[in-house]
Amino acid sequence: MKKLFAILPVLFAVQLFAQSDAKMNAFVTNLMSKMTLEEKIGQLNLVTPGGAVTGSVVSKGVDENLRKGFVGGLFGITGPEKVRQAQDIAVKNSRLKIPLFFGLDVIHGHKTLFPIPLGLSCSWDMALIERSARIAATEATADGLCWAFSPMVDIARDPRWGRVSEGSGEDPYLGSEIAKAMVRGYQGKDYSSTNTLMACVKHFALYGAAEAGRDYNSVDMSKIKMYEYYLPPYKAAVDAGVGSVMSSFNDIDAVPATGNKWLLTDLLRRQWGFKGLVVSDYTSVNEMVNHSLGDLQTVSALALHAGLDMDMVGEGFLTTLKKSLKEGKVTQKQIDDACRRILEAKYKLGLFTDPYRYMDESRPAKEILTPETRKAAREIAARSFVLLKNDAQLLPLKKDASIALVGPLADSKRNMLGTWSVAGDFTKAITVIEGIKNVAPGAKITYAKGANISDDSMLIKRTNVFPPDEIEIDKRSPAEMIAEAVAAAKNADVIVAVVGEAADMTGEASSRSDIGLPESQLELLKALAKTGKPMVMVLFNGRAMTLNWESKNMNSILDVWFGGTEAGNAIADVLFGNYNPSGKLTSTFPRNVGQIPIIYNHKHTGRPFNNEEWAKFKSNYLDVSNDPLYPFGFGLSYTTFTYGDVKLSKTDLKGNETLTALVTLTNSGKVAGEEVVQMYVADVVASVTRSVKDLKGFQKILLQPGESKEVSFKITTEQLKFFNSNLKWDWESGDFIIHIGTNSSEVKSGKINWKK
Ligand code: NOJ
Repeated sequence: MKKLFAILPVLFAVQLFAQSDAKMNAFVTNLMSKMTLEEKIGQLNLVTPGGAVTGSVVSKGVDENLRKGFVGGLFGITGPEKVRQAQDIAVKNSRLKIPLFFGLDVIHGHKTLFPIPLGLSCSWDMALIERSARIAATEATADGLCWAFSPMVDIARDPRWGRVSEGSGEDPYLGSEIAKAMVRGYQGKDYSSTNTLMACVKHFALYGAAEAGRDYNSVDMSKIKMYEYYLPPYKAAVDAGVGSVMSSFNDIDAVPATGNKWLLTDLLRRQWGFKGLVVSDYTSVNEMVNHSLGDLQTVSALALHAGLDMDMVGEGFLTTLKKSLKEGKVTQKQIDDACRRILEAKYKLGLFTDPYRYMDESRPAKEILTPETRKAAREIAARSFVLLKNDAQLLPLKKDASIALVGPLADSKRNMLGTWSVAGDFTKAITVIEGIKNVAPGAKITYAKGANISDDSMLIKRTNVFPPDEIEIDKRSPAEMIAEAVAAAKNADVIVAVVGEAADMTGEASSRSDIGLPESQLELLKALAKTGKPMVMVLFNGRAMTLNWESKNMNSILDVWFGGTEAGNAIADVLFGNYNPSGKLTSTFPRNVGQIPIIYNHKHTGRPFNNEEWAKFKSNYLDVSNDPLYPFGFGLSYTTFTYGDVKLSKTDLKGNETLTALVTLTNSGKVAGEEVVQMYVADVVASVTRSVKDLKGFQKILLQPGESKEVSFKITTEQLKFFNSNLKWDWESGDFIIHIGTNSSEVKSGKINWKK
């Protein structure tokens, strides 16, 4: 009886859900019964009249197609007035008055920009990440939108790939937690409110494994690797109820994702139970022609067969599906299913009740870029920064210090927001120099640019694609600029060098084969180092970089990614100790490009090498060690943390028992600080080769100076599971090592045996 009472609310919810589902089905069925074939195919068409162009084609004849009912949704326009104009055409001038939905790449904030996703992930703070997505959804919906092409959850192990900046790094467990937090933040409970929107997990799948880190390149990997390391974050987003999925540009098992039935139907819909809509990436249907799979009609039919519902920009569906149906190459049911899923999304967004519900002209002034959103952006940015080095506690700086502030990114509004800030206004961003003046008005600042971001004409041309230029070229010669910076340094107590990549040196179509600081900036740092003054390097970057010289010659290094609208204030907050940095890397920093791919959760190999002395006939290099420059999970603080030994509740476990593993964490320094305590599991013996360890838990803990806390992790057999040769997710009896520590390399460990 007691049990029955306990499940009554669940049964009630299930019934309500079934009722609302039935209502939606009846509505959509009725609507579809009135639609012509052309109108159904029209719903499968997603167009952009400009504004978010990431390919060589922009949709043409948008107005006319809207009137004919040949467009399902629009992306790339913002502002309630503009969006309303387009909705007006659909709702007032098309035959069936079916509303459009409006999407955009809302990636790390909308108008209030937060750190780029790679930076956000370094906070290891799910509440914070969810909050950033919540604010983004509020702003985007106030701006007329109801669909965000985010979260991007591609696991990336190759920092040459520019799009590592858009994801959460190399780890599937952390990536999955972040995927869920983002979906929650965007969609709320069910994305039916006017300040939530439909999220779109992308790029399904494996886009982050593009060969050689070159964007849009092929992907080829084993199923075990795919299931174990690359698929979990997409699955986590699906389990969290994400409304839509975007297919990726790359091929998988020699079939492009957009036309891959195994991926879009067998795995996504059948195995994972995804019920929402699948949209292609920008012209990725058409690109299957270049992938050598046939002409536009053939590849469009292939995509529909595979389970794709909506065609972004390429109009392959719009222009060929009718013919394919006539010729028996696709079925009416396939077109109907795709159309239904798009109409269902519109229904769930409430657009059939009120097509203008996201177009409240009074909202932007109240909800976009407010003092509150800016405050949140500042707090969130500060928590994304990673302190990579801090010799002799040079940081934090004194607020009355005399500072030589140098470097091309110290006073560059254009570069603060980072990649994918389509709706952002960089003129509203706070630069480092402004931030320092706000936070430490008593500091004596001498500013000198010191160098251009790069002097390489090819790199400049390829980076400065979207005006105004991100790499601004000074009229002075490099030598003159360096001389000015050195003179400033000589008169200062400390040098703060703000260097790194321009915003668009990462992001889409921004792969690099050399991931070091551009030569012009390295020359500047070398000249400054000769002054012997203590030097802090503030690094802007959208990827892990090679920083060998810098790691030896800088006294302090603060990695600030691209911090967004409030970047400058947040950087100053950390530089002057208003906030004690707590970020930890989510991608491994290699020593050189030749080590790539370098990840913490690599396999043992048959000839393992554990960073001991070099040895012949072991898996190592002649010219570089195996260990990274900075490992996954690494990040310093202005305080120090001491870890006690790992205490295990048991060392021999059976079946469904639960293990508690704990460490005592002590703040052994002089200031309060947060530490991300990381728990890894290593499987000692298994039926397939396993990685050296895998992240299975983490906690962010705040401790006052001298304070200690027991940090405990509950471990069940869930954390022991892996994909075996039959792709079954299961665990096997044997020994396991539980590692707990401050990063993936520095851990305390305990061994257990767990039997089935
Ligand atoms: C191409 C990108 O790959 C994708 O991430 C983005 O959402 C679309 N363009 C739309 O802008």
